[in-house]
Amino acid sequence: MKKESLYSQVSKEIYSVTDGENFEIANMSTIACLLKEAFDDFYWVGFYLVDPLRQQELVVGPYQGTLGCLRISYERGVCGAAAKTGKTQIVDNVHDFVGHIACDSLTNSEIVVPVFNKDDQLIGVLDVDSVKLSTFDRVDQLWLEKIVTTIFKK
Ligand code: SME
Repeated sequence: MKKESLYSQVSKEIYSVTDGENFEIANMSTIACLLKEAFDDFYWVGFYLVDPLRQQELVVGPYQGTLGCLRISYERGVCGAAAKTGKTQIVDNVHDFVGHIACDSLTNSEIVVPVFNKDDQLIGVLDVDSVKLSTFDRVDQLWLEKIVTTIFKK
């Protein structure tokens, strides 16, 4: 099935399962699970959360996949760049990204989407990793941004 059709299907499933649920961790767990199940190339899917107790630091949240790093500074990695800039990061080859954090050495490309709440405050980032190079493009960006906006800005 084409990527667009898969996103169309899985986003409907996400909206249906999380309908009426406002607890962020429950919604993040659901998104991580359904995205990981829907796409063969999604090797690691999960959230890093803004830690209210430590400035400029993310702490791991709900995820599916191999063991993730527990904490990431805003100054490091693709997740840090997404948190710091508030902009989606698409990396075709993580080995070319200065400061990339290799939680799992099998990862070769990734997309990280910032997650904002209804007050436009950053609450975390959604990180999707693939073992293939150049897995992610504007289609992934559009759909993943739409999913996190719909769920966490409501
Ligand atoms: N790839 C991320 C680190 C998190 S893990 O890959 C699960 C980064 O460089 O920000």
